[in-house]
Amino acid sequence: MLRDQTPAPIERGRFLLMSCQGGAEKPLLSRAATLLPKTTPGVWRRGVVTLRLADGYDPPDTHSPDLIYARTVIRSFGQVTGETLGERIASLENLIGPGFWDDVHVWRRDERPAGAQPGSIRTPLHAKDDLESAHVRKAILSKIHQKESVFTGEPFVSSGRAAGHRVIAGSLVLDCVIDSHERWWVGWHRAHAPASCVPGGIFQAHETQQTQHESEVEQSKVSRAWYKLDEAIRFSGLAVRPGLKAVELGASPGGACQRLLEAGMQVVGIDPADMDPVVATHKRFEHWRKRTRDVRVRAFRPFDWIVADMNIDPTSTLEAIGRIVSTPGVRPQVIIATLKLPEWSRVDEVPEWLSHFEAWGYRPFAKQLSSAGREICVVAKKKTGATARRAAKRRRGKISTTPPPVSVKRPHRIEKTVPPPGVAELEKKKKSPPATRGGRTFVGLKRPANRSKDRATRRKDS
Ligand SMILES: C[S@@+](CC[C@H](N)C(=O)[O-])C[C@H]1O[C@@H](n2cnc3c(N)ncnc32)[C@H](O)[C@@H]1O
Repeated sequence: MLRDQTPAPIERGRFLLMSCQGGAEKPLLSRAATLLPKTTPGVWRRGVVTLRLADGYDPPDTHSPDLIYARTVIRSFGQVTGETLGERIASLENLIGPGFWDDVHVWRRDERPAGAQPGSIRTPLHAKDDLESAHVRKAILSKIHQKESVFTGEPFVSSGRAAGHRVIAGSLVLDCVIDSHERWWVGWHRAHAPASCVPGGIFQAHETQQTQHESEVEQSKVSRAWYKLDEAIRFSGLAVRPGLKAVELGASPGGACQRLLEAGMQVVGIDPADMDPVVATHKRFEHWRKRTRDVRVRAFRPFDWIVADMNIDPTSTLEAIGRIVSTPGVRPQVIIATLKLPEWSRVDEVPEWLSHFEAWGYRPFAKQLSSAGREICVVAKKKTGATARRAAKRRRGKISTTPPPVSVKRPHRIEKTVPPPGVAELEKKKKSPPATRGGRTFVGLKRPANRSKDRATRRKDS
């Protein structure tokens, strides 16, 4: 935290502005309608959505709704337009009025075209865009009052999407969102959660490895999954300790395993496909060349983390994880799961998908990563204390609320409902009459052996 926080602007802006992956605007608006009832949709463009705040509603500076599809949420002053940079800067000065700022974040809205494949996000823009973000930031900095430049890490000017510094929590940040060459959105936010400390909520890989230039980092990575896992670790603040044991379901070619190995972890990758030699030959890596369902569940006992990144339907991913974590003795502390969204309509199922992690005794947090495609990443940490005990009881069937069934919606198929892993077995147990003896009922438990009868039988035999 900063010693003396720079005060927020007096005129705070009547809109929230959220950045998202191009194409995710509708899911974002529908999530906002549920979580932010005191707002109404404003204008939106590809990659940017605004919400008007109801009269009298003024969320706190560090308001951080769990919007899944929003990369970052800022307060918006409005737009500035102008043909020249000078005109736009003059309008910006006029719009923001007097006041001090700790730093400036400049970022571009994500205009990725419909159906763009993930991966293109790392190189979608031209070098001139990269320069433009940096140039705009420099021009703004020369005009505004900067209280103190409070930042950590290397200057954040790269990948054609964002310019600025990774600031520390508490910093007051002026945001400039480049909408087009002539139009910017202008707003502000107070940095708090990790995503709000980086321009546009876009994490930069080279920050993790500050000794390398970004292009060197990109060349050295086995696959884009390295970036996804890196971002997941950073947005969720997971503690990565050397010596932890991780297993990845769907590990080929190995970018995510590479990230875990770089963190000093012991890693097993499960995938019928080949691993990249960089990973395959690592001394702390083991390849189980199988499909996940062909691995015996007992084999998952040693692992602290389960990472799942299989290119299969989310319901199948959940079934695979559920089969593992419902096994006695298998209790990873962390699950990181990629749930693909082959169709945007599947977002309606996301709350139900997340409820499975709850039922397994984990606290899930979902986010659409800036480095990923049409999918969400769930980071679920194991619950502790009373909440964990309640979840464990639920798993053992001692309290009545069973996890909701997974609704399988596949295109061109009739919808069917399958119970999530573990539930089918519970249902079977419920249907068979409970074991009783001497007026006592044993629900969900094995009937204890009748020891007195056994002793009597043994005496008779002898
Ligand atoms: C998106 S790629 C994974 C990328 C990988 N995480 C990385 O770091 O490079 C999806 C992988 O899931 C694997 N896969 C699909 N179904 C699987 C299953 N049932 N069990 C194991 N792997 C599976 C595929 O073979 C494919 O290699």
